[in-house]
Amino acid sequence: MCHPSGDFSPGTYLIGYQIDDTFHGRGFGTEACEFLVYYAFNFTDAYLLNGDTAYGNKASWKIMEKCGFVFEGRRIKYWHAHGEYHDQVLYGLLKESVKDSFLNYLNKKWK
Ligand SMILES: CC(C)(COP(=O)(O)OP(=O)(O)OC[C@H]1O[C@@H](n2cnc3c(N)ncnc32)[C@H](O)[C@@H]1OP(=O)(O)O)[C@@H](O)C(=O)NCCC(=O)NCCS
Repeated sequence: MCHPSGDFSPGTYLIGYQIDDTFHGRGFGTEACEFLVYYAFNFTDAYLLNGDTAYGNKASWKIMEKCGFVFEGRRIKYWHAHGEYHDQVLYGLLKESVKDSFLNYLNKKWK
């Protein structure tokens, strides 16, 4: 979790997660994102979390959507990697928008 580059508004953070290849598909990415939401909104000044990923990285944007992040936009051909351009999708989660049921779930799980 870090401040978004180029935007140092207090209380806004960019999240990211990376799971070792051998453990993909076992729910750890979802758990990592859940923990970031729990940590950010319980123990920091965060009021807004942002996340981004390549459009083709379905597992990643699914994780954010499962954690309540809202789709904010798509930047066409934003990244170049592995010999081709990739669209970037942007997500955001406002503290005030987090559902009580999700907060309760997180608090029970991580407290
Ligand atoms: C993206 C990443 C974190 C996903 O981690 P993971 O532990 O495999 O994810 P999960 O097991 O929690 O799965 C999350 C969801 O994506 C789905 N999913 C997993 N792999 C998928 C794939 N290859 N294609 C489509 N969906 C996929 C899962 O089914 C799950 O959805 P569900 O709960 O509805 O079944 C992991 O692939 C990774 O570390 N990638 C490299 C780094 C990266 O891309 N980070 C994200 C950018 S910030």
